[in-house]
Amino acid sequence: MKDIRKIAVFTSGGDAPGMNAAIRAVVRNGIANGLSVVGIKKGYQGMIDKDFVDLYSTSVSNIIQRGGTILKTARCEEFHDAEGRRKAYEHLVSNHIDAIVAIGGDGTFTGAHIFMQEYPDISIVGIPGTIDNDLVGTDYTIGFDTAVNTVIDAVDKLRDTAASHDRLFFVEVMGRDSGMIALHSGIAVGAEAILIPETVTYVDQLIRQLERGWLRNKSSCIIIVAEGDDTGGATQIAERVKMKFSNYDTRVSVLGHIQRGGNPSANDRLLATRLGYEAVEALAKGKEGVMVGLEHEKIKYTPFALAIKDKAKLNLNLVKIAEILAM
Ligand code: F6P
Repeated sequence: MKDIRKIAVFTSGGDAPGMNAAIRAVVRNGIANGLSVVGIKKGYQGMIDKDFVDLYSTSVSNIIQRGGTILKTARCEEFHDAEGRRKAYEHLVSNHIDAIVAIGGDGTFTGAHIFMQEYPDISIVGIPGTIDNDLVGTDYTIGFDTAVNTVIDAVDKLRDTAASHDRLFFVEVMGRDSGMIALHSGIAVGAEAILIPETVTYVDQLIRQLERGWLRNKSSCIIIVAEGDDTGGATQIAERVKMKFSNYDTRVSVLGHIQRGGNPSANDRLLATRLGYEAVEALAKGKEGVMVGLEHEKIKYTPFALAIKDKAKLNLNLVKIAEILAM
């Protein structure tokens, strides 16, 4: 087993509420295990730029409740090149870093997987931090619960104005490749329809559903659209629907990056704390090249290549429930 004395932690990709809670847990459990802990700023970019900062117990005081990430984050083009990764490796070695805890999503773990194949002397363990909840090997990713609650809060408000004006709202939520936020928030707000990338959207079928609602005197509607839906998003589908069925006064609301901000929910703080703690335990046990997740209340280690492989995590039973209850 490798002798690990100094670990680094970073956040990468889109930020997610709860990342700070995970950093805190990594730092404090690292120290409890007798390790030195370094933070890398802006994910892989900070490795290349040698942007390292020593972290102590007090460095992570008063952050468990804060959204965003104190270590900052980025999507790093340079790390896609072997030359960028070589620079990153040299900086890690010159800083005597033996292992890394990487907090992020599929892009982060793709990078970690390649890096570990090229430089196996540096162990990497991952923590799922993304609002998208699109990783295999964990029931939930850090940030998803908060993001869904942010959407619910916004859509409840849109319902008020939709009902007052008798309007049809297309609400676009995040999820380039994943309908998780759309499906969970859509069910929770009682949306009339939920359009997600994992299923084909039949526009004529949607229009027929709206027509039926109109005939039943349904005066307002909310349709949740994942940004990666095959129709191209809320603006595009709204235009197509309006052309064929113009009875409703239609509006589009794109919620955007507001979904990534805010104080993490209780669930996200707990999940982040548990996974942060367990990531350090995993390194201490000699684990590497895996994402630490929580499935059915049990800690699970999933190799990076598997965690990012399968996008078909969406519960199709939830899709069915949403369709039946929206009628
Ligand atoms: O992966 C998280 C996520 O918020 C996606 O849901 C979204 O498609 C994307 O990031 C947006 O990325 P950016 O912040 O680069 O616009």
